[in-house]
Amino acid sequence: MHWLVKYMNKKLIIANWKCNPATLKEAEHLFNALMGLKIKNTEVILCPPFVYLKDGFLKEGPWQFGAQDCHWENKGAFTGAVSPLMLKDLGCNYVIIGHSERRKYFKETDEMINLKIKAALKNRLIPVLCVGEESRESGEEIDKIVGEELEKDLADIPGTRIQEIVIAYEPIWAIGSGNPCSPEDTMKATLFIRSKIAKMYNRKIADKIRVIYGGSVVSNNVASYLKEMGIDGVLPGAASLNATEFINLVKNAEDL
Ligand code: PGA
Repeated sequence: MHWLVKYMNKKLIIANWKCNPATLKEAEHLFNALMGLKIKNTEVILCPPFVYLKDGFLKEGPWQFGAQDCHWENKGAFTGAVSPLMLKDLGCNYVIIGHSERRKYFKETDEMINLKIKAALKNRLIPVLCVGEESRESGEEIDKIVGEELEKDLADIPGTRIQEIVIAYEPIWAIGSGNPCSPEDTMKATLFIRSKIAKMYNRKIADKIRVIYGGSVVSNNVASYLKEMGIDGVLPGAASLNATEFINLVKNAEDL
């Protein structure tokens, strides 16, 4: 059985800690509190800052690990970079690539994101590609922006590898705003993403690929997304930094 098949039908919960918490002590506290997570029907991936990954692995909780970014080369003279091989070697399974904050604050281009996705795949890391529009003026804008991102970010990635990728629909206006995209609109956006993948590859691949949602997901709304057809998981940020809130979020997903 392909290693991916085991997970394919479980809902994904990818916790993006971003640049938090501020100290190792606090990170340890959070890891310890999360030991109480009960995970059976979902796949939970914690993405702490690089510097806490090692410490997290020592705790051996019921989760998997992912990173929030990686470089596209495995080693070399790239000051400050962390490579996909380093992450794989540490035991990470996932890596978030192209988050809007990386695009905005670190000037990541679609070309860089494309290289990173290819490098992650080469190292058997599952890339979680983030796409999303800045505002929501009209439906056309979403199609145009997300469509272009998908075309550029996935350029030259063969159909044989594409179903390993997770695509996160992350409308920028919904991130950290407390104003999530409605489940219905999210479902429409994920339908668009699948139709775009069907055009770029084929329908079979589009049906198989995992598409998730991120942007102000909390314990009280997680179920409304996961109930929708075609939404395969969520990517909470702030809600994953509070142990009680995150345990509730996972519980509500598990109970579906
Ligand atoms: P948020 O972040 O849940 O705090 O809105 C989500 C994200 O940026 O991935």
